[in-house]
Amino acid sequence: MTEHEKQIVVVTGGSRGIGRAICISFAAPNTQVFFNYFNPVDPDAELAAAMETEKLIAELQGSASSRSVNIANEKEVERFFAEIIENTGRIDVLINNAGITKDGLLVRMKEKDWDDVLDVNLKGAFTCTKIAAKAMMKQRHGRIINISSVVGVTGNAGQANYSASKAGLIGLTKTTAKELAPRGITVNAVAPGFIETDMTAALSEKARNAMLDQVPLRRAGLPDDVAGVVAFLASESASYITGQVIHVSGGMYI
Ligand code: NAI
Repeated sequence: MTEHEKQIVVVTGGSRGIGRAICISFAAPNTQVFFNYFNPVDPDAELAAAMETEKLIAELQGSASSRSVNIANEKEVERFFAEIIENTGRIDVLINNAGITKDGLLVRMKEKDWDDVLDVNLKGAFTCTKIAAKAMMKQRHGRIINISSVVGVTGNAGQANYSASKAGLIGLTKTTAKELAPRGITVNAVAPGFIETDMTAALSEKARNAMLDQVPLRRAGLPDDVAGVVAFLASESASYITGQVIHVSGGMYI
């Protein structure tokens, strides 16, 4: 990147929650953020949320643009990245953040609920990584950060699909870190614990209290708690860190 070029940051699932906080953490005049989002149930609400993220970034003198892209669909992802590379010629940072849950006990879990979660959380990250890595390899520089979860390490009853996808992301992180290190690209994972977003707002009071009981720091995390660590991993200060899983969970896993 020359001093006149903007840093290009791509975030999946940037319309809300942790993804929005991550996008905002990159709001700066020398950075262009591209993010995507997808909500087949309520596309209008998701579009409004994405516009709000763009507005919040503009208020901080940053620039962002977004598209509805289902990361489980390889063709859509290819089009999304092709447009970015056509316009900017590079990708400096990729954050694989988009994720969904379809919880249920293993013995009752439907094949579709397994496939949907694995397709978005794991295959989606694979597809985005594969495309972004090609651009980064040419640049001989890049940062990839995967948003895993504490349950990818510990497991969690009722989340066989989700915890398997998040454990898979850790394997993907470690392997891509090894493959891409010679090209100056670092790949790390962040494993959040219980963070206040729409995803956790859907939990019952009982499930919420049970989760909080497991947090030694005695509070739920905020999207900014995760975004700060992502920003650090994307920065030059983290240039000697690769293949690691950083837990941001108030000590849920020690
Ligand atoms: P959220 O539900 O608030 O937001 C999810 C985002 O992903 C939205 O922007 C949505 O549009 C996008 N998205 C969903 N499916 C998509 C698809 N197929 N293609 C493209 N975008 C899609 O979620 P939250 O809580 O902000 O979570 C963000 C990430 O952090 C997820 O990967 C989640 O698994 C992970 N995480 C969250 C924790 C929490 O306590 N909230 C804890 C540990 C990990």
